[in-house]
Order: sequence, then structure tokens, then C-alpha cells
Amino acid sequence: MRRVRRADGFEVNLNITKEDFINPPRELQRSTVINRALKEFIADINAINEQTKYFVSGEIDTEVREINDRTNTKLSDEEIMEDWQIPLMQKMADVICETKGAILEIGFGRGVSADMIQNHNVKSHTIIECNDEVITNYFQKWKTQYTTSEIRIVKGLWQNVIDDLPCFDGIFFHTYPLNQEEYMKYVNESITFAEHFFSYSI
Ligand SMILES: C[S@@+](CC[C@H](N)C(=O)[O-])C[C@H]1O[C@@H](n2cnc3c(N)ncnc32)[C@H](O)[C@@H]1O
Repeated sequence: MRRVRRADGFEVNLNITKEDFINPPRELQRSTVINRALKEFIADINAINEQTKYFVSGEIDTEVREINDRTNTKLSDEEIMEDWQIPLMQKMADVICETKGAILEIGFGRGVSADMIQNHNVKSHTIIECNDEVITNYFQKWKTQYTTSEIRIVKGLWQNVIDDLPCFDGIFFHTYPLNQEEYMKYVNESITFAEHFFSYSI
């Protein structure tokens, strides 16, 4: 089955090569769902065209450095977490700490959200962090403020350590893609970055 749709500025060609691909009982049903999919795709492309008119080129950092993998790289404060995220993190912390129970935080970063979690007087606070530099330069110092709290650091990629941890009452998930491969998989091919974590959060 072939379908061609011409729109202002582009053309969409669909060629279904297998007879049993999208094969409901009636031919009309097949046409209807395929036509709907094409209509939605054309609407998406038009929306992308409109959105991209508002793109800006972004800041070119004169001291830009190539970071191929940031799993264990020493990063600046802004590279770890940009300040515009702070109000969002506060809302996230308020929601996940509602029970004041056992909280898991994935990605310690600069420890800003860790303070927010501690301010809720939670029962326990477990943190997974993969970056040795972050643990040494931020976590170790941060922890000295909370001598009476139950805080536990688990070093490693959450993907490697999470199965050994118990259940939690709230999870604060705040990581970023560590390399290009993760960027392509978790950002480009997902609806939202946290999607790859969703199955662990049930
Ligand atoms: C955006 S920062 C977290 C910011 C933090 N909420 C704060 O208040 O500063 C992301 C952190 O997640 C860590 N991270 C990224 N991917 C990870 C992974 N797969 N497993 C464990 N930690 C990860 C990074 O090393 C970094 O410290």
C-alpha cells in the first residue's frame, strides 16, 4: 500500500511493504488508521517548522572543551546543574518528600536538591552518584552539615546498583546523559529524559 501526501514545503511517502502489516478486518479500517497517522505526522512536521523559527544559535563558549564522557569528569558548577533548575527541583523535592519517609536521590550534583530533601526531615536519604569528583568535592563536605541525619551514599551508575537497594517512599531522579550514546538514546529517542527510569519507579 502506498500513500503520498503533499503539503506546503514537504512531501510524505509511505510504502507499506508487508500485506499483514496494519491489517484489521476491513480495508476501510486500514485506510482510516493509516490516513490518521499521516495526518498526525504532517501536523507534527508543521509544528516543528513553526517551533524551529524561534530557535536561537545559543552561546558559543570561547573556552568550550570537548567532554566525551562525564561519568567521572571534573565539572564546573554550571556544567553540573544550571541555577534555572532550582525552582523546579524545589517542587520535585516537596512532592517526593510528602511522606517524610525513606527517600532515594539519584544524582547528587552540587547537593542543592539534597539540602531541600534534608529540609523536609525525612526518615532516611539514600543517594546514588557515579562521579568520584562530585562525591569528593561536593558530597563529602555537604554531609558534615547533617551529622544526625541518616544519609547513605551509593557510588556507581544507578543502572548497576539499584537492584541491590530496597523500596523507597519517594525518588528524586535528576541525572543527565553521560555521553553521546546516552544522549541519543535517552534524549533523542524518548518523549522525556526520565523515561528510561520509569519502569524502576513503580
Ligand atoms: C544535574 S546533576 C544533579 C543536580 C542536583 N540535583 C543538584 O542539586 O545539584 C546530575 C548528577 O547525576 C549524576 N549522574 C548522571 N548519570 C548518572 C547515573 N547513570 N548514575 C548515577 N549518577 C549519575 C552526575 O554525576 C551528576 O552529579
